[in-house]
Amino acid sequence: MNKFFKDPRFAGIEPFEKKVWLSSPTMHGEEQKWVDDAIKTNWVSTVGANINEVEKQVAAYAGVKYAVGLSCGTAALHLATKLAGEKLYGQARPNEGTLQGHRVFCSDMTFDASINPVAYEDGEAVFIDTEPDTWNMSPEALEKAFELYPEVRLIVVAHLYGTPGKMEEIRAIADKHGVLIVEDAAESLGAQYKLNGRWVETGTLGDYNCISFNGNKIITGSAGGMFLTDSEEDANKVRKWSTQSREAAPWYQHEEIGYNYRMSNIIAGIVRGQLPYLDEHIAQKKAIYQRYKAGFADLPVKMNPFDEENSQPNHWLSCLIIDEDAMAPQVRGEQDYLYVSVPGKSSPQEILDAMAAFNAEGRPIWKPMHLQPIYRTHAFVTAEGNGRGRTNAYIAGSGIDVGADIFRRGLCLPSDNKMTPEQQDRIIDIIHRCFR
Ligand SMILES: Cc1ncc(COP(=O)(O)O)c(C=O)c1O
Repeated sequence: MNKFFKDPRFAGIEPFEKKVWLSSPTMHGEEQKWVDDAIKTNWVSTVGANINEVEKQVAAYAGVKYAVGLSCGTAALHLATKLAGEKLYGQARPNEGTLQGHRVFCSDMTFDASINPVAYEDGEAVFIDTEPDTWNMSPEALEKAFELYPEVRLIVVAHLYGTPGKMEEIRAIADKHGVLIVEDAAESLGAQYKLNGRWVETGTLGDYNCISFNGNKIITGSAGGMFLTDSEEDANKVRKWSTQSREAAPWYQHEEIGYNYRMSNIIAGIVRGQLPYLDEHIAQKKAIYQRYKAGFADLPVKMNPFDEENSQPNHWLSCLIIDEDAMAPQVRGEQDYLYVSVPGKSSPQEILDAMAAFNAEGRPIWKPMHLQPIYRTHAFVTAEGNGRGRTNAYIAGSGIDVGADIFRRGLCLPSDNKMTPEQQDRIIDIIHRCFR
């Protein structure tokens, strides 16, 4: 029997009959109509009316001239990163990436899909620490990074969990150093940011911008993503690369490397059915965030923060972070973990285990990239400078590592927009009991 069922702290709590998900697809019916339409008209391919329509609608929603439908957000990020690399360093040989021999400043606390395209293009990611105000790239650490690596010409920045980062500061730093920005808005479609006094959508804040329609996102096509831009030339280039880079010849003629990254008309049909509900999903996610915030008011935890004056998150995932003095001991290995239950305290792993025991899905915060085995040898820069090798066996004190701290004390809460208030109250109750 599950240990939580025997634990007197959880007496009287019933497991959810149906699993409460972190964030699952929410269908409305119209998706089926557009998928059926594609099949009936035989546009079961990477061309068709659904693709044309969602490209038009998303461009209009985001306020950009062009949206290019792609197979996933990762494909969008790859082509955006390649476009930036080609602009900065020229066209690469077919067997080489455009970023070969070049460093790129990257968000550290994000999904690896944000920054893996730097490696696809043979570049070397330098990870920039996180700031505590929005849990996104720290402008202070970014400035420090330019002191250490003044030759860098590209930044890849993500908005975590639907909360816009400090883009005004990041853009100012980028302009000062004459560098380009790839914006990863995969998690933040519909989130808004006040840039120089004007409200704009995330996904329009970089030189190359990407969104995702992954199954867990605020709206979904089951998969799919988009590249957003005001540049017709860039839009055409991404569309060409995504369809195997065919030249204008009667046969298949190729002068540059191609990819099979185009969005399918079936996926576009699902996205087409979802788009009218984007704002409704955001409102539901916001209500979930606020209900958690009120429910945790008496606990030693905080919700994931955002800039209330200059941003309107889409609240894709609600998260909490445990106050330092309420953290029970917890250690994480490469693939396992151990924690101790202490009265009045708890830990992310205990809360995640408790929620799982009662059939609700949470998730640890994205493990920062500079801590990932694959990127362990890459540079990491904090607001204090070089973030590697900061401790000293003979001298007390250690440097800051904001991302590692949020990973240690934070977690993502069930944020499914089909979760009922009663279900959410039970989750809030379970978390209260973890601190008993
Ligand atoms: C921050 C971030 N970037 C990129 C991606 C990749 O998007 P996709 O799954 O559509 O390839 C995701 C999610 O999956 C993400 O959360």
